[in-house]
Amino acid sequence: MSSRNLGYVLILCVLYMLMEYMPDQNDEVKVAAESQEAAMEVVETDKKTVAITFDDGPGAYTMELLEGLSERNVKATFFLLGEQIKQYPETVKRMQEDGHCIGNHTYSHVNLSMLSETQAIQEIENTNQLIMEICGEKPAFLRPPFGACSSQIREKLDMMIVLWDVDPLDWTTKNVDAVVSQVVTNVSEDNIILLHDIYESSVDAALEIIDFLLEKGYEFVTVEELMFP
Ligand code: NI
Repeated sequence: MSSRNLGYVLILCVLYMLMEYMPDQNDEVKVAAESQEAAMEVVETDKKTVAITFDDGPGAYTMELLEGLSERNVKATFFLLGEQIKQYPETVKRMQEDGHCIGNHTYSHVNLSMLSETQAIQEIENTNQLIMEICGEKPAFLRPPFGACSSQIREKLDMMIVLWDVDPLDWTTKNVDAVVSQVVTNVSEDNIILLHDIYESSVDAALEIIDFLLEKGYEFVTVEELMFP
């Protein structure tokens, strides 16, 4: 190889090395975009609240649910039936000790709008009494079965009516994946999710929903905290 050729080779080598070590403009743009994305994620995680609620319990799977909630440090709301409370008083006690919100769902899951005023009030008061005996305080919230409650009864009660925003109809499918996907695709900020802790599938779905939404930056609050932040 002549010395001139060797010179060219050396120059090419130096140029190649310079190109390798020069910062790539595209990389800088990419880094900038990534940090902007990170900043947006921070904004997104800033307090998106959601409430998860359970009706018709307590039941055979409620203790397992309470364990799962406790592991995740998540607070929920339970709308209890009087006739179920009688079977699972220890579960109700644990709900209160863990700081969950306890509401009334009547004594025997009746449609309040089909009853006389006296009967309807009785259905609600009986359950309030049972909760009082276990927890020492009267519940502030009522979720009427089927969402049905006349304005006359509402006026007679010293309670707030709580309905729901997201209903995956967990009691019809009893399918974990279907319930999870129904909830996570329909939920948005400040929503109330409705599930039934008397089904094992709903308890499993609830914990999956919670893990998914925690990952998305949601914070779980009770109905009370949602209504009075
Ligand atoms: Ni119900």
